[in-house]
Amino acid sequence: MIIDKITLTNFRNYQKQTLALGSGINFIIGANGEGKTNFLEAIYVLAMAKSYKVEDQDLIKFNEEFAKIQASIVQDKHKTELTLIISEIGKRALSNDKEIKRLSDYIGNLYIVSFLPEDLNLIKGSPKDRRYYFDVFLGQIDKEYLTDLADYKHLIRQRNELLKKMADTNNRDETLLDVITEQLADKITIITKRRMALIDEINRGIKEAFSRLTHLDRGFKLEFIPSIAALDIAKFLKSKYRQDLLSGATNHGSHRDDYEFMFGGTPARLHASQGEQRAMLIALNIVLSDIVNNTKKSRPVFLLDDVFSELDQARQNQLLEYLLETNAQTIITATAIDDIKERYRKTGKIFHVRKGYIKEESING
Ligand SMILES: Nc1ncnc2c1ncn2[C@@H]1O[C@H](COP(=O)(O)OP(=O)(O)OP(=O)(O)O)[C@@H](O)[C@H]1O
Ligand SMILES: [Mg+2]
Repeated sequence: MIIDKITLTNFRNYQKQTLALGSGINFIIGANGEGKTNFLEAIYVLAMAKSYKVEDQDLIKFNEEFAKIQASIVQDKHKTELTLIISEIGKRALSNDKEIKRLSDYIGNLYIVSFLPEDLNLIKGSPKDRRYYFDVFLGQIDKEYLTDLADYKHLIRQRNELLKKMADTNNRDETLLDVITEQLADKITIITKRRMALIDEINRGIKEAFSRLTHLDRGFKLEFIPSIAALDIAKFLKSKYRQDLLSGATNHGSHRDDYEFMFGGTPARLHASQGEQRAMLIALNIVLSDIVNNTKKSRPVFLLDDVFSELDQARQNQLLEYLLETNAQTIITATAIDDIKERYRKTGKIFHVRKGYIKEESING
């Protein structure tokens, strides 16, 4: 899958920008604050219908009323025009000029895997960040998961409201609570299975991806830590009624699951260096890209923001080799072009960004 042409209108610091991207590696070069991350974020937003870091309104260029991202996506010679419009009153998503109402019908039109600055928090950050990361990925390749997750969130809201109401009114009738709890247990079973299956799939490829990138064999693997390990989930949840009623919230379930990055037998959050963490996350992206390719028969677009800082030359080259080999359309940002070996510069397209304007480098520089 590739993005052929993309146009940004009033998106962050871009007023109007059209780019014809290359089908291989695209380098976006610019100094700090010129718009590199914003450009990648636009592609992310087009794929996911929302940003990974801010509310929709923050994506609109200052003092403008709407932001628009348009792109033609090519897959097997088949072209789809995707449009996302964000305005003060809401958001519209269109595929070939046809409005798409449901998020689950829109997501999956453009597959991406991304390494963004925020992802550096993934290993050491909060469980919420990790759940969000893997949920977003699963949502791209599994529509049913997206629906199950939405149902789950709805049930949690319902259940928490009921718990608060029961506590406030001193109501001891648990009939409705039982019903919601059983529905919740069914969803937890489904979500847990899907999350575990993904982690198994990642673990089948992660060691090789990591050692390929780093030439190290440090036993990198992911662990899924479910909030509820008991087999009978409904029974477990029912045994926690007292605690839930006291706190007016559901204390156990898929919204409390976590993931651990294990490195050389211990948690990476405790021992891994910055560069090692970066390499781990890139290895993870490589595996995720392979998973999309295997299940969807389509290579996702690779977004790599500022990936070269803290990655030594050998690792940079290994990454670029992988990208060339798999033919993945890639957009890489960097502050300087000199950091990149000539061989890769020659095979890709180079763009320079300055104050929200992007220009392709001409042949003679
Ligand atoms: N909604 C907005 N409207 C206009 N400008 C914005 C908006 N949001 C962010 N900006 C501006 O966009 C500029 C570029 O940000 P961006 O994060 O893309 O820079 P960058 O090239 O990635 O820099 P760095 O190398 O530091 O990561 C910033 O100066 C920021 O103030
Ligand atoms: Mg940036």
